[in-house]
Amino acid sequence: MADPGNTPSYSSLTEENPASDSPELPPARILGVESSCDETAAAVVENGRLILSNVVASQVDLHAQFGGIFPEVASRQHIRTIYPIVEQALQQAHLTLKDIDAIAITRGPGLPGSLVVGMNAAKGLALGSKLPLVGINHLEAHLYSAWLYLPDATPSAPPEFPLVALIVSGGHTELVLMTDHLTYQHLGASLDDAAGEAFDKVARLLGLGYPGGPAIQKAAQGANPLAFKFPRAWLEGSWDFSFSGLKTAVLREVRRLEGVVNPMPAADMAASFQEAVVDVLVRKTIRAAEQFQARGILVAGGVSANQALRQTFMMRSAVPVHIPPIWLCTDNAAMIAGAGYYRFIHGQRDGLAMDVYPNWPLSEL
Ligand code: KG4
Ligand code: ZN
Repeated sequence: MADPGNTPSYSSLTEENPASDSPELPPARILGVESSCDETAAAVVENGRLILSNVVASQVDLHAQFGGIFPEVASRQHIRTIYPIVEQALQQAHLTLKDIDAIAITRGPGLPGSLVVGMNAAKGLALGSKLPLVGINHLEAHLYSAWLYLPDATPSAPPEFPLVALIVSGGHTELVLMTDHLTYQHLGASLDDAAGEAFDKVARLLGLGYPGGPAIQKAAQGANPLAFKFPRAWLEGSWDFSFSGLKTAVLREVRRLEGVVNPMPAADMAASFQEAVVDVLVRKTIRAAEQFQARGILVAGGVSANQALRQTFMMRSAVPVHIPPIWLCTDNAAMIAGAGYYRFIHGQRDGLAMDVYPNWPLSEL
């Protein structure tokens, strides 16, 4: 606790509250700050679950002209927006820093220049308010978005361990066994492109624009996912993934059809590509859940916003599948505050000497 003598007791974490993991968990309000990529975000979360505010300033329009994220532009935009966003997050929660117990900040993984802006802002806030700082791994935070809920929502029961968790974002595709809070066993990862990266690259190939994931999903709506037989890399005997062969197969098909078919059947190609990615992600994750006798599956990260992925998991899994609502799948700071709560109550404190860690793997946690 920041100041044990002054710790407020929050009524939302009581024995009657079905949302709490355990009635013994101490109450804490965490301010989360996130700037690892192209979203500047701040949020206040109570007891690791209840979102009191969640403000996200997306830079997507700014980067669309470059067809991808321009790191220098991202850092400059974070500098412009970070303090107003933090201010907004506190205002929307009707709180000041005096009501906060700790500041959770994304240390990595992410773009170095972007991470530094959030880190320095968080350090400034911590120094001025004497609040403890907690450095958070962005991938772990994606997982903790599954515990979050809004004040006007009926909280669902928290995911039960052991969980098989699939993180599918723009930079990472990773399968882990989560045996308890903050406890991970690495099972597998993509050996080449991350799932989101594959969506982004294939969208570019098909001329569907940026960001690629939502563009592919939109194009695929109502199209035929069986029109093209794209390859699936099963990598039997491992929990790893590979998407570069699939991406190359789409490229080869585009080249073959160029000048032969007009217009290019981009919608059917998008649907067939999406089907191939979803098939591999869902099958391998469910197989892992069976093998490790998981009590649930957790899917998180930007690609978990994909409707086909969500529906296929729900249809095929015998154990409960926890996927955050779509607005919590892509980058946000509520997930940083959520993970920050569990790190904070387990005693993690980081000093002002903490630095960003742009390549921080989940396996080091
Ligand atoms: O987690 P995230 O917001 O940022 C990272 O930490 O990387 O993930 C962004 C990725 C992008 O590659 C984007 O194309 C993908 O998530 N994405 C989607 C969808 N929405 C976002 N991919 C497939 N279908 C979607 N609906
Ligand atoms: Zn992310």
